[in-house]
Amino acid sequence: MEFEKLFTTIRIEAEKIENQMRRDLTELLPTIDDLLAEVLEYGLLNGGKRIRPLLVVIASRLCGDSDDKIYRLACAFEYLHGATLFHDDIIDNSDSRRGNPTINRKFGIAPAILAGDFLHAYAMSVVGRFSGKEGLKVFCAATAGMADGEFMQLRNSVNTNLSELDYHDAIMGKTGLLISAACVIGAMYGGGNREQILAMQLYGDNLGCAFQIIDDLLDYQGDSAKTGKEVGNDLMEGKMTLPLIITLKNAADPDRKRLLEILADTGKRKECVDEVCQLIENYKGFNLARARAVEAVTIACNALQIFDGNSTLFERELLEGLAHYVLTRDK
Ligand code: IPE
Ligand code: IPE
Ligand code: MG
Ligand code: MG
Repeated sequence: MEFEKLFTTIRIEAEKIENQMRRDLTELLPTIDDLLAEVLEYGLLNGGKRIRPLLVVIASRLCGDSDDKIYRLACAFEYLHGATLFHDDIIDNSDSRRGNPTINRKFGIAPAILAGDFLHAYAMSVVGRFSGKEGLKVFCAATAGMADGEFMQLRNSVNTNLSELDYHDAIMGKTGLLISAACVIGAMYGGGNREQILAMQLYGDNLGCAFQIIDDLLDYQGDSAKTGKEVGNDLMEGKMTLPLIITLKNAADPDRKRLLEILADTGKRKECVDEVCQLIENYKGFNLARARAVEAVTIACNALQIFDGNSTLFERELLEGLAHYVLTRDK
């Protein structure tokens, strides 16, 4: 499909999701505390990419019938995602999100925790309402897995012997599961059969992993004016992401020693971001990590092969397009 057509469709669908979020908030805000309302508006209507709800909408169409209620269900993924971001920015001590101060910086930690809890509960109720018990089961499992993945990441912090497999398990939990749940619940809503739902799960698992690998690359190599987040934060926080894991494994002794010395010291991690980037570059850590994301996207796209009918060719191409966007994104 030409890039132009894909881009236009995604833009129109994202606008519909955005409009549904505005409608939800218009209904909700007068019923809740003024500060909570302010935090939700600030934290939700601020330019997110809306990848997860887009996946719900497209997956439902790929697997069969869909109607306008799909947008209501889709938005729940953005609410849960928002909840996890509010909490994640406290955990990661982050200053900026989507180009603005994080909720914890602007409003304080207590409002950020409570607004996250509120959104979490709200998301659950929306999913229960529009996808029933079966959908809610998948959604709850993903949410529980996200918290578990965050725990894995805590345990992995500054663990300089971390394997790629440990990293993979943590990113699958914290990011892969929700992206995968968006694909699965969308497919269920569309009336997909077991084989189709499993294919969407495989697509979502792999897309989610690729998504986080690229996010971790952008944390080193991105432009904060585009990502809207600080660059170098993962290193400062001692997060062991793929470029660093690969470099620690491949580096010659003196370089490895130097890296370990930097990682062991909070002050040095802040001061030596450029030096660490150069070391990673020297050992091709960025390129090798990107190659892992490419592999995951290839598996994701191959999973779509079972959708071989002409009537859903457009949706399949949209999902392939989104998967390639994940690799080239700069925000
Ligand atoms: C950020 O997610 C958190 C990760 C799982 C990497 P997104 O990159 O989807 O963030 P927004 O919603 O577009 O801001
Ligand atoms: C994703 O990891 C966290 C969640 C799944 C909430 P990151 O901590 O890397 O996400 P960003 O970079 O802060 O968006
Ligand atoms: Mg973070
Ligand atoms: Mg990140």
